[in-house]
Amino acid sequence: MAVPRCACPKAPRAACRGDRTPGPGVGAVNERGVRVRVTFIDSKGVARTIEVAPGASVMEAALAQKIPEVQSDCGGACTCAMCHVVVDDAWAGSFAAVCGNEASLLSLLEAPPAHSRLSCQLRLTAEMDGLIIHTLEQGDGP
Ligand code: FES
Repeated sequence: MAVPRCACPKAPRAACRGDRTPGPGVGAVNERGVRVRVTFIDSKGVARTIEVAPGASVMEAALAQKIPEVQSDCGGACTCAMCHVVVDDAWAGSFAAVCGNEASLLSLLEAPPAHSRLSCQLRLTAEMDGLIIHTLEQGDGP
């Protein structure tokens, strides 16, 4: 399955060299009291909902809340693919397109589920309250 390529006007390499920008932290709310609820559904169908301040990545939020099946070896530098998740169909259009390193890593998957993403590249915004993310059994990465 082909992974959709980035349609952004910037050169893909410049746009996606790995999101190393630290988020504002993984608190439950930001300074204005805004929070985003994210529900993670694991490979066995168990749902866990967390609350996190906008600005964190999905990976940062998952690790901070000890969500099973989400790991990171690269700290969000978009080089390990251990943070592979699937964005729920209803939310698939909420994030920027896959490009750069993320696209390269996802292309290593044999048959990636639709809407596969590296969660370190998914930055949460206040508009994403109610987001649903599916996690994968360990070993489903590239
Ligand atoms: S945390 Fe390593 S690629 Fe996302």
